[in-house]
Amino acid sequence: MDTKIVRLSEGNNDETALREAGEILKSGGLVAFPTETVYGLGGDALNPDSSKKIYAAKGRPSDNPLIVHLYRTEDLYRVAKEVPEEALKLAEAFWPGPLTMILPKSDLVPKETTGGLDTVAVRLPSHVGARKMIEYAGGFVAAPSANLSGKPSPTLAKYVIEDMQGRVDMILDDGEVGIGLESTIVDLTVDPPQVLRPGYITKEMLTEVLGRVENDATLFSVSGKTAPRAPGMKYRHYAPKGDLVIVRGESERVAAFVNEKLREARRAGEKTGVIAAQETSKLYDADVVKTIGKRRDEEVIAKRLYGILREFDDENVGKIFSESFGEESDEKGGLGQAIMNRLLKAAGHQVIEV
Ligand code: TXA
Ligand code: MG
Repeated sequence: MDTKIVRLSEGNNDETALREAGEILKSGGLVAFPTETVYGLGGDALNPDSSKKIYAAKGRPSDNPLIVHLYRTEDLYRVAKEVPEEALKLAEAFWPGPLTMILPKSDLVPKETTGGLDTVAVRLPSHVGARKMIEYAGGFVAAPSANLSGKPSPTLAKYVIEDMQGRVDMILDDGEVGIGLESTIVDLTVDPPQVLRPGYITKEMLTEVLGRVENDATLFSVSGKTAPRAPGMKYRHYAPKGDLVIVRGESERVAAFVNEKLREARRAGEKTGVIAAQETSKLYDADVVKTIGKRRDEEVIAKRLYGILREFDDENVGKIFSESFGEESDEKGGLGQAIMNRLLKAAGHQVIEV
């Protein structure tokens, strides 16, 4: 398949390209497009064949449900069978933006899109180009992240091109995304509402609007043995090819421990890597040391994380150690929870305390 790649301009006033993307989607084709969180791999959410094509292009199991993207809030009533008061309050507070809500699905949404579930995930992105494209596509675009299954979600157009060229009809290139981690998912079909995937919209922000909100108990588990409630969260996502282990503790001790392990790995003939904060990156003696950002600069850490995981793959690093991130903001509920959750998943929940 030939893939048309279009670079969007600043402000996304690319009417011709966005309308063309909308037409492709309407006629059952696939378009990879930017959002404020990560790039998405879009198809018409109301067309079962489009959803099947999405699973095929990603190489993803078809029991993993897709998020339906809207361009205006009132379309909630078309995809959801019931729209509870909570959904309207959250839409008012956080849409357009990086929040996905789980609701009972209407008959309009095919089971192919929801992975066979009776519920539907809905989100209204804030990215201007994405919203126009969704409108031109008829209003309902199913989109998982635009990576091949098992790879980190793409935060740069070059990663989308790497994974999706030849597999989709069009790629809209808008450079680097804003946030770098996928949207927060909140399940409104249970009481109290549950966060199934932490993100930029934090549990604390949701609690302020709704009162009581809980975390899915598996989100930060170190063992990773219980299955998370969002079907997609159970797969070993975001995993680099190399073995990744998180090392937690006081910085000098972490560095001493990691350097010892790095020497062992080197003796075993492995190429070694470290993910470190700017403050401590000089302490490590690895083949590749990736500085992810200043420890307290969580927006930078969030935006860099997936790119770094991909870089390790490109550089064929076999043994990777990461410092632990995001713990400072845990009580305040910043981006730290989302960063820690993704890092734990990338590491297959391997954590060593020193
Ligand atoms: O930021 C995002 O949400 C990005 C951009 C492209 O919008 N999309 C994204 O989609 O991350 P995806 O498919 O990579 O992740 C969707 C997650 C999966 O973990 C899936 O299991 C969960 O949402 N999900 C979807 N529908 C669900 C449902 N009905 N019930 C529970 N979890 C659901
Ligand atoms: Mg994904």
